[in-house]
Amino acid sequence: MADVAVIGAQWGDEGKGKLVDWLSARADVVVRFQGGHNAGHTLVIDGEVYKLSLLPSGIVRDGKMSVIGNGVVVDPWALLAEMERLKGQGVKITPTNLMIAENASLILPLHGELDKMREEAAGKGKIGTTGRGIGPSYEDKAGRRAIKLIDLAYPESLPQKIERLLTHHNALRRGFGAADIDAGALLAQLKEIAPQILPFAGPVWKLLHDARKAGNRILFEGAQGVLLDVDHGTYPFVTSSNTVAGQAATGSGLGPRAVNYVLGIVKAYTTRVGEGPFPTELDDDIGQKLGERGHEFGTVTGRKRRCGWFDAALVRQSLRIAGVDGIALTKLDVLDTFEELKVCTGYEIDGQSFDYLPAGIDRQKNVKPIYESLQGWSGSTAGARSWADLPAEAVKYVRRIEELIECPIALVSTSPEREDVILMKDPFEG
Ligand code: GDP
Ligand code: IMO
Ligand code: MG
Repeated sequence: MADVAVIGAQWGDEGKGKLVDWLSARADVVVRFQGGHNAGHTLVIDGEVYKLSLLPSGIVRDGKMSVIGNGVVVDPWALLAEMERLKGQGVKITPTNLMIAENASLILPLHGELDKMREEAAGKGKIGTTGRGIGPSYEDKAGRRAIKLIDLAYPESLPQKIERLLTHHNALRRGFGAADIDAGALLAQLKEIAPQILPFAGPVWKLLHDARKAGNRILFEGAQGVLLDVDHGTYPFVTSSNTVAGQAATGSGLGPRAVNYVLGIVKAYTTRVGEGPFPTELDDDIGQKLGERGHEFGTVTGRKRRCGWFDAALVRQSLRIAGVDGIALTKLDVLDTFEELKVCTGYEIDGQSFDYLPAGIDRQKNVKPIYESLQGWSGSTAGARSWADLPAEAVKYVRRIEELIECPIALVSTSPEREDVILMKDPFEG
């Protein structure tokens, strides 16, 4: 029996939500361990669309425990709004099926404001963040001035914590020409939200430990992707958390052996939202067609995603860094009807060749992809549930990718719908 971590192996939006939903049929507990409501995970179940940002994708299945780990930055207002929206779709959410780590750090309105002020001030040099306050909140956590979820249970000591936080933030805000935050108003906001969110707070590390001891299966749900990892991604165009599988343990309060199998989610082409290097980006009709066929618009911000060819060199690098055991290849159907498909196998930078993307924004900006060409297919892969349903050229494309990334393909996804999956190897079987 294995506990499985699902992580994105590109720049996010690979289809993690769909695969976590599919795999959660085999799990007892689903855990988010990093990121926040910058994530947008989409599930489609019999035509009904569920969009999740902070809630683990297991929430839509009855009888599963959903957990938000300590590594997640939690905006309580956003979370309550998301819960209401999902309840409106008939999803049951109570403290019996959702626990939030009591030691999780909160995202406050001032974090989103700072995020946006910085982006605006940066002008052309902006990161292209989701504006959700993710970076500023993680900074406060590392700076030891964050408000933790459990702090809401002790209103008498909140004023000191708020003062400590505002000493820092009001100084920053003055630099941006913004008005100071009023301590009393923030205290009132926190007191108001406390009774709504505190019933879900608990010792997540203990719940997970007990679940493991009882032989329950745990599924860890990553957000973003390896190339957005604060250490390993295309820095500074990254998010502010570690998105690799190692974070599943740290971000939930388990040891390094918590994960037995790491499933990397890999889109059959490449997309990116926000700024930053993208070697295989297509600024032409082909990129346009990928975006249209793949409906590549951000779930969170509605921004158009940048599109390009599959980058095998970059995915191979991501899979090694994150310790991926097998991948799920998603959105293969989007490539239906393309006559020719290109795959990047390496790079040339200033006359030197590389089989990986070297670090550093100055080198990355001169990168030229080296491509190999593959034949496209005229048949349809949409909705395929068995290998035999795929056109011969699609099989060749998948097999070539597997060879280039040096990692086995465990699953192939062929539509947004829950059950449209080709299973080759069950991650829970190790
Ligand atoms: P996540 O952030 O990794 O969970 O991915 P998103 O949900 O943000 O974006 C993936 C999008 O592709 C969603 O709209 C999914 O419904 C959709 N999707 C997932 N798998 C497939 C697939 O195999 N084929 C197609 N056409 N769409 C897919
Ligand atoms: P899911 O989980 C795609 C990107 C933003 C920006 C950078 C930093 O749905 O795959 P942040 O708000 O985190 O400080 O923004 O990271 N980004 C994502 N891109 N999918 C995501 O999540 C993302 N979460 C953040 O666009 O470039
Ligand atoms: Mg997404």
